[in-house]
Amino acid sequence: MEPILQLESARLLLRQWRDEDLPEFARMCADPQVMRYFPTVLNRLESAALIGRIRGHFAEYGFGLWALERKDSGAFIGLTGLMQVNFDADFTPAVEIAWRLSSEHWGLGYASEAAWTALRCGFERLSLDEVVAFTSESNTASQKVMQAIGMHYDPQSDFSHPLLAAEHPLRRHVLYRISHAQWLRTLQG
Ligand SMILES: CC(C)(COP(=O)(O)OP(=O)(O)OC[C@H]1O[C@@H](n2cnc3c(N)ncnc32)[C@H](O)[C@@H]1OP(=O)(O)O)[C@@H](O)C(=O)NCCC(=O)NCCS
Repeated sequence: MEPILQLESARLLLRQWRDEDLPEFARMCADPQVMRYFPTVLNRLESAALIGRIRGHFAEYGFGLWALERKDSGAFIGLTGLMQVNFDADFTPAVEIAWRLSSEHWGLGYASEAAWTALRCGFERLSLDEVVAFTSESNTASQKVMQAIGMHYDPQSDFSHPLLAAEHPLRRHVLYRISHAQWLRTLQG
């Protein structure tokens, strides 16, 4: 299948990464407010390496975490997209949907708009059977995005993130799911 390089929503481009995105991406990933629910903030080298891994995922699977660009200003504002879950759990193998936006662009509906666009791509173009999302129990902002795009909390699938240490305060995670059939039903209202 041809790689899905770009998607578009009313206010956003979900596009491929450019080298010029690095300064703003690194600033976002170094912001403790943005990274509150991740184990650590990232330095510039770690952010550059992450962009490299994202590009590698596109090369391998033909989809991934797209760079988000506001159509009104052309500003790079973060990422949203689909990726293979990179650890083993009861719910894997699975494709997850994920997002991270610079805090100046929160509260404007951009994360939900991008997430909706990525989810539609997952079902309509990639023909996925199901998409999952997960985050630490305390990350309610992210869970609101999951709910906004029609995902359902699956309490039986709560899990301890295997890549976090046993005593880590962010270790307990909630799992949300949406099947292709459920997504079709959300379209019908
Ligand atoms: C998770 C995250 C992406 C959510 O961003 P967000 O801007 O709150 O999410 P949305 O795009 O859905 O915006 C929703 C808010 O915008 C408001 N809004 C304004 N205009 C809107 C519009 N046109 N459409 C929809 N919502 C709009 C809504 O009222 C809502 O506000 P509320 O939360 O007070 O009810 C953001 O907090 C983030 O990047 N966090 C750090 C990274 C992270 O934790 N990622 C997830 C890890 S698993």
